[in-house]
Amino acid sequence: MSSETLSNLSHEDRRFPPPADLAASANVKADAYDAAANDFEGFWAAQAERLDWGQKWERVLNWDNPPFAKWFEGATINASVNCVDRHVAAGKGDKVAIHWVGEPEDDTRDITYAQLQDEVNKATNALISLGVEKGDRVAIYLPMIPECVFTMLACARLGAPHTVVFGGFSADALASRVEDCGAKVVVTSDGGYRRGAPSALKPAVDDAVAKLAGGEHAVEHVLVVRRTGQDLGENGWNDDVDKWWHDVVDGQSSEHEAEMHDSEHPLYVMYTSGTTGKPKGILHTTGGYLVGTSYTHWAVFDLKPDTDVYWCTADVGWVTGHSYLVYGPLANGATQVMYEGVPDSPHKGRWWEIVEKYGVTIFYTAPTAIRTFMKWGREIPDKFDLSSVRVLGSVGEPINPEAYVWYRDTIGAGKAPVVDTWWQTETGQILISPLPGVTEAKPGSAMTPLPGIDADVVNDEGESVPDGSGGYLILRKPWPAMLRTIWGDDERYKDTYWSRWPDVYFAGDGAKKDEDGDVWVLGRVDDVMNVSGHRLSTTEIESALVSHPKVAEAAVVGATDEMTGQAPCAFVILRESAIAEADEPGEGGDLVQELRNHVAKEIGAIAKPRQILVVPELPKTRSGKIMRRLLRDVAENREIGDVTTLADSSVMNLIQSGMSGSSDE
Ligand code: WT7
Repeated sequence: MSSETLSNLSHEDRRFPPPADLAASANVKADAYDAAANDFEGFWAAQAERLDWGQKWERVLNWDNPPFAKWFEGATINASVNCVDRHVAAGKGDKVAIHWVGEPEDDTRDITYAQLQDEVNKATNALISLGVEKGDRVAIYLPMIPECVFTMLACARLGAPHTVVFGGFSADALASRVEDCGAKVVVTSDGGYRRGAPSALKPAVDDAVAKLAGGEHAVEHVLVVRRTGQDLGENGWNDDVDKWWHDVVDGQSSEHEAEMHDSEHPLYVMYTSGTTGKPKGILHTTGGYLVGTSYTHWAVFDLKPDTDVYWCTADVGWVTGHSYLVYGPLANGATQVMYEGVPDSPHKGRWWEIVEKYGVTIFYTAPTAIRTFMKWGREIPDKFDLSSVRVLGSVGEPINPEAYVWYRDTIGAGKAPVVDTWWQTETGQILISPLPGVTEAKPGSAMTPLPGIDADVVNDEGESVPDGSGGYLILRKPWPAMLRTIWGDDERYKDTYWSRWPDVYFAGDGAKKDEDGDVWVLGRVDDVMNVSGHRLSTTEIESALVSHPKVAEAAVVGATDEMTGQAPCAFVILRESAIAEADEPGEGGDLVQELRNHVAKEIGAIAKPRQILVVPELPKTRSGKIMRRLLRDVAENREIGDVTTLADSSVMNLIQSGMSGSSDE
């Protein structure tokens, strides 16, 4: 498969230069790229100076034994001290660290840095009282409540690596993660609020604990926050292991003297899915991770800690919540919003109401959310005063240009720069992104590797492709927040990421460099299809479909095709205004033809979907990623595969029942 054949067919001429005032006062200016290129280690050493260290490092980077990196070797540091204590010591104890917003209306809590320090110290002392020592693992299975942050920082303080498991995961998923990392304590709550109703968490922990009981990785203690007060059920409390948070934590001392840990001491394990069924425990360590996340949070969002109000909507159960809700922003002494619930409870304007109330200036979310808001219509955000917003961020998947421009216009008043940030659970920090005060951004492009990052697009032989061509996205040099290994599986770490080309990290994504050398991430390489010898990205076709006024969301897969090798098959959700029209007899078929022609017009006849199915929902994981694998099963008339990671498993029934009315031609 030659990368030369990657079709570079979509055209995008819109350009958005930085606003002049933002450019003039930007934290990072254009000179940073050269500075980093001229002195790689010196650049990262300078960034490390933003943190408080115990011992300073002997070496910035030890890459003697690739792919096992050591950053800031010989140094000691405590992540919790950097995120909390040092801000209090600097006189910022009264500054709000977290404006916490519960899902029930008027359930809010403003937590200052001084209060955060007390809470983290009490939680640390509580963990010690439960027998947690440096090096022990602690699992966290909590909703988006402040105790989640307190516990993470308490673990970091002790040097007990945490593994946060997203609250939407099942008991089995929780058990396999607890077992894999050997966590001896699980911190959870009775439940959390979702769409106005309490939603239980504790029963899943009970099941996981029961599953592991008597084995090598039996859980010793479960610490339970009372959040909803809901009934725990008949067998919902086991005095041998279960302890209420308020009983164990509230009475603890708010003093705790933190130890400095080695820079390479494990900070946390975050599980992510790979190509096999067994999730990978991505290991992040302390010093480099904090340098990478705090630098990029400050640079990419142009954070001004004294005036900005930052909001990242990601759940703490994902890496975005770790890097850009907990460690990056708190290390930088930011004031931020943390919201427990969903965007449409109790009404579809909830997020914008929060932005207005707290005067959010920097807002970071995912394309899937942006497309949802597009579908609901701009009348909803238009009802709120969003004039405080000055920088917008996007993460998680390629953002299609239509969604990008809508985001910029509707949420950013047509002037806030959008930073399309490319990174992964494995990379720990943003690696490719515009800089809001420097880059003339193109909608749909993550643009350029950040200062100090050596990313490229290569062909099958690992050679850099020329501008205008596509290939595989790789990293040539280590970066501070990179994963160090897969927990307990160094071989899998080497095989998965470093084996395709010597000493090169392969991200698993396809990308193209446009005529200016700017990077367009095309999605996972398995989302790139080959149609009659032309490689097409599902993302490009999806963007074309979503640019049609009647389409709200689209997913495209490459289905096996006798004639062309693979053929694009599309699943689309219509905008509310178009649904009524499509219900008219006969309209459905015409609409499908209209959409096929639209794709042909936007990209070329080769990209015309063979099949377009209008569906009410798309199958998504709980993190919002479309499960194209399942759609491929539908498109190829196969039995639907494993649906256990779907957020809503009934979606596939809806899609399949729609197949009978499909427009297969
Ligand atoms: C994969 C990583 C990064 C935290 C959330 C997801 C895709 C991520 C972008 C972007 C295009 C993106 C890639 C990547 N991705 N950001 N800005 N443009 N694609 O973390 O679950 O580890 O997923 O998400 O395919 O490899 P993750």
